[in-house]
Amino acid sequence: MKIEYAERIQTLPRYIFAEIEQLKMNKKKQGVDLIPLGIGDPDLETPKVILDELIKQVKLQPNQNYPSSMGEADFREAIQKWYAVRFNLDYNSETEITGLIGGKEGIANIARAFINPKDIVLVPTPGYPVYENGATKLCDGIPYLMPLNEENNFLPDLDSIDTKILRKAKMMYLNYPNNPTGAIAPNSFLKKATDYAEDYDFFIVYDNPYSEFTFDEYIAPSLLEINRDHVEINSASKMFNCTGFRCAWAVGNEKIINGIRKVKSQIDSGCPIFIQKAIIRGLNDYTSNKKPEIVKRTVQVYQERRNVLVDGLNQIGWKTEKPKATFYVWTRIPKEGMNSMEFVKELINVGVILTPGTGFGQYGEGYVRFALTQPIERIKEAIERINTLLN
Ligand SMILES: Cc1ncc(COP(=O)(O)O)c(C=O)c1O
Repeated sequence: MKIEYAERIQTLPRYIFAEIEQLKMNKKKQGVDLIPLGIGDPDLETPKVILDELIKQVKLQPNQNYPSSMGEADFREAIQKWYAVRFNLDYNSETEITGLIGGKEGIANIARAFINPKDIVLVPTPGYPVYENGATKLCDGIPYLMPLNEENNFLPDLDSIDTKILRKAKMMYLNYPNNPTGAIAPNSFLKKATDYAEDYDFFIVYDNPYSEFTFDEYIAPSLLEINRDHVEINSASKMFNCTGFRCAWAVGNEKIINGIRKVKSQIDSGCPIFIQKAIIRGLNDYTSNKKPEIVKRTVQVYQERRNVLVDGLNQIGWKTEKPKATFYVWTRIPKEGMNSMEFVKELINVGVILTPGTGFGQYGEGYVRFALTQPIERIKEAIERINTLLN
């Protein structure tokens, strides 16, 4: 029997995280104590109000049935209210909001709704790999990579993109606060991006899952505040420390939302109702308290960890900047002549797990990403171990 992968699968890159996972397992077997600062999965607990609601809701029979793939009406209404309170934006929950099974699902499925073979999709790099692979390549589209360089504050240089490319572009993914760089986007840049979109007839998918994780008085905007005709994806995953719940949403242009809904209705049955109900509880808590203690506390924890990590790295001679947002620290590798994977392998030998920049595309070479997902004591321990390697 001949079993052949489709060509589109063959174009996908090697999954770097799987390789790191294997190295980790080997070290674990040897009894090495590992400090995982690699994957962006929160170590903090889901807020109690949400967990209590989840336990209550899962016991109710109607909530055990099939959900609607576009999200329950009360869930969409809670998102509508959140957008009104958080961004002062008014969207119609019946036509301009859809539920998602995690932001990742929405990022991928939006391409299924709008990308024809050979359509160009503008993709930031380094970036969340789903824009390039799970979305564009799996729809036979062509990713046009927009490098995010330190010299440009990790914003794409839109003026440098050939107008022929821009004319052929159907969609652009943008993500600020940014994974992996921790960068933020000023409104002037967002305005410029929406002007380009209007001039060249493409729309922007604004991926905003770190909107609540901002430090030093900075508050992240929604792209929809600048121009309400695009689409924005946000998620309960990071906001409420519940990546395993798989609950997110897309808000924006009715035609775009309709496209996502149409795809979803053919391939999934939505996020479980009891999970949507639990997240409604979290969102309502947010809207009635204008950012509740549960989110504020999480942000405070990440800010303290960021300070300990970045100050500690600078003290051992590894020059690193403090990001204004996200729970990531993106920094150049301090060893000359070594690529990011080689450096990460050296760190695994001393029990510190980071993500190599190339995990976010070739333009991530020369960098590593720390995720602030360990307590302060473990972060300090990691710095000591890194010190033994560097000095
Ligand atoms: C930039 C970005 N977008 C989207 C996601 C997906 O989040 P989820 O699918 O858990 O909502 C992540 C997760 O790490 C991310 O970093």
